[in-house]
Amino acid sequence: TQSDLARAQSLITSIPDYPEPGVMFRDISPLLADGPAMRAVTEALIEPFAGQFDIVGGLEARGFLFAGAISTMTGAGILPIRKAGKLPRPAAAVSYTLEYGTATIEGPDVLKEGERVLLIDDILATGGTLTAAQALVRDLGAEVVGSAVVLELTALGGREHTGEVHTLFAE
Ligand code: PRP
Ligand code: HPA
Repeated sequence: TQSDLARAQSLITSIPDYPEPGVMFRDISPLLADGPAMRAVTEALIEPFAGQFDIVGGLEARGFLFAGAISTMTGAGILPIRKAGKLPRPAAAVSYTLEYGTATIEGPDVLKEGERVLLIDDILATGGTLTAAQALVRDLGAEVVGSAVVLELTALGGREHTGEVHTLFAE
């Protein structure tokens, strides 16, 4: 319901100086712990994409939680998009820049050509992770039909890199 969704937003906690001084970290743990809030968030994430996707791409690690919930709710499959070195036979890899250094994500060889993927993550910050995931899905031969996140940190300008993202909450 709308009140569950409103409560979900209030359950995202801001923790100062984590993981380093000067950074305000958003912790979604209290939201994850609230069943009705989780259901409301899961329904809201997919609301614009009904009937438009075959499989949900979840970004390790917190994106997996929402991708799993969406899979159960809709019957869509799950594409786990993993940090480098976790998959036995990655079919594609994309590297991207972080504030310090680089990171790489990888995906398994499970997508059929033209399969429609909805990408899901908890937080959009600089957009590096989601932009890399969009490229990864295309490299895997599938189509990205949309990207959705629970919380967008707008000051970091992530959507300039990602293109259109369905965002539930913005700060
Ligand atoms: C966080 C978050 C997003 C990403 C957002 O994941 O869950 O995936 O960073 O940042 P960006 O928009 O600047 O790329 P993290 O790498 O901390 O992984 P975790 O979920 O495994 O903790
Ligand atoms: N919280 C959780 N994950 C994140 C954040 C945050 O504030 N910024 C980038 N990834």
